[in-house]
Amino acid sequence: MPDRTPAPEVLLGVSGGIAAYKSAELLRRLTESGHGVRVLPTEAALRFVGAATFEALSGRPVTTGVFDDVPDVPHVQLGRAADLVVVAPATADVLARIAHGRSDDLLTASLLTARCPVLLAPAMHTEMWEHPATRDNVALLRSRGTVVLEPASGRLTGADTGKGRLPDPAEIFDLARLLLERPGALPRDLEGRHVVVSAGGTREPLDPVRFLGNRSSGRQGYALARVAAQRGAQVTLVAGHTADLAAPAGVDVVSAPTAAAMEAAVRTSADDADAVVMAAAVADFRPVDAAADKIKRGSAEPPPLRLAQNPDILAGLVRDRPRAEQVIVGFAAETGDADGDVLHHGRAKLGRKGCDLLVVNAVGDGKAFEVGDNAGWLLAADGGEVELTDGSKALLASRVWDAVAARLQ
Ligand code: CTP
Repeated sequence: MPDRTPAPEVLLGVSGGIAAYKSAELLRRLTESGHGVRVLPTEAALRFVGAATFEALSGRPVTTGVFDDVPDVPHVQLGRAADLVVVAPATADVLARIAHGRSDDLLTASLLTARCPVLLAPAMHTEMWEHPATRDNVALLRSRGTVVLEPASGRLTGADTGKGRLPDPAEIFDLARLLLERPGALPRDLEGRHVVVSAGGTREPLDPVRFLGNRSSGRQGYALARVAAQRGAQVTLVAGHTADLAAPAGVDVVSAPTAAAMEAAVRTSADDADAVVMAAAVADFRPVDAAADKIKRGSAEPPPLRLAQNPDILAGLVRDRPRAEQVIVGFAAETGDADGDVLHHGRAKLGRKGCDLLVVNAVGDGKAFEVGDNAGWLLAADGGEVELTDGSKALLASRVWDAVAARLQ
């Protein structure tokens, strides 16, 4: 039977800032992943990007005013039909207009008729983002359940750098998809908390050009960091080797290529952390001596590979926990075998590691590694066991932070 589930309907608002050109990439990601998208630019947005770009990429007409197509009453139709509204970029002006219920164009009028989740991705100069008027507008919007993303830091218009940059379109797309999967996934319940997340795989050098590594892409750890930052946490992301992933907005990234470097970075940042999530794939062994020069093929027998144990970072964190309230989360990628299934091995590992929560992923058959989606179980030291149904890595991340936030309260 063909799948008759209707495609989710997204209203993509675009307001008038230089980052408006990035909305075209977000639009493309949304349409290519099967969403129906109607673009609602403001008049100012059309000074940056032409309506033809939005019409061609969405396959739908583009209008800006409430007096276009009056017999169709478009602001009511569009708002009611939407499963999600995303505004990217959201300028200081559009944040103010939305916060105060203005309805002077099709975008803001449709926001008053929409009852679905709303995701606003601000982009503006740092001074505008930090101005008390904008802070108040953001607080008001968040108090009503509107998701207002933290902007990224980096290059702004002209020569300026600072906070206020539009988050990467791939990141906005992931968070938009998360809100469609689970509308309540981004509460501000980690405000005032410091969390540490490790991600990616470590690489243990054999010589200056070779290493022992693994297939971890870092996507799950990045999703955890991204979701925590958007739930209000101060996030330190300790990153091993990853796929080519953009740094999540508002997150401090510390590079840790080897297990030893990762242990040092995690231990330092965990000192004052409320929660530590070890999502990295840490090599259990490293070559005893990394050769200073490249190992040559030569004609003799291949040199023996002598390995030494790496520290178990997670077990060390549990052993030296600075405060009893600190929540420590581990990950386990398991396959079933003759001794038991994935869940059996997960329960045993939770007991061995002594952490508070353990996310157990089934691997093999293309599951978990290097792919976008993830499923498994969330096991708790107090006996709790939640099945994590198939969904995005951001969805899994939001379930992990639910459990962490519940323990921190
Ligand atoms: N981990 C760690 N330090 C290591 C190895 C693993 O902190 N040297 C962490 C991982 O980040 C993960 C958890 O421990 O959160 C479980 O990783 P896994 O590789 O499954 O654990 P191992 O103890 O290596 O178990 P196994 O014998 O199944 O490989």
